[in-house]
Amino acid sequence: MRTFDIVVPVKAVDFDELSIQEQNLVEIARDATYRSYAPYSHFRVGAAILLENGEIVAGSNQENVAFPSGTCAERTACFYAHSQYPDVAFKAIAIAARGIDELPVASPVAPCGACRQSLLEYEMLAGHDVKVFLIGRKEIFTLPSIKSLLPLAFTEF
Ligand code: THU
Repeated sequence: MRTFDIVVPVKAVDFDELSIQEQNLVEIARDATYRSYAPYSHFRVGAAILLENGEIVAGSNQENVAFPSGTCAERTACFYAHSQYPDVAFKAIAIAARGIDELPVASPVAPCGACRQSLLEYEMLAGHDVKVFLIGRKEIFTLPSIKSLLPLAFTEF
């Protein structure tokens, strides 16, 4: 028998500690929360994906009266990005959210399991790590890769 721990490396940084390009990505994720369609949960999520060609593709959660038919912000963004730019690798993703009080969430929100699995596929396609920024009101959590969010992932690659 053997046991081991899997460590998730997270850095909590202030906005000012990010590069200009990273700050821009964070602002675009925050803006995307204002295009969320969330009449049922009133929880507005925005995701912005930086591509290797410098383009940034944003998405927001889109709910539906038939609840399972809605889509999270992260999947809206990654499916849209890859359908617009099928040959361009992802470089980073930033995720922001506003709660029912309309304010940015105090603590960063992390993607749900289904979104982690979907994002992982694009990280595998990229062939390199895709950096993650989880945006809270004050702090931003940075993680080096999607796989660090989904240890022991299902993958055929
Ligand atoms: N949501 C996201 O957009 N991303 C996640 O990773 C988890 C949850 C959305 C789905 C739903 O519209 C709302 O947040 C409340 O769960």
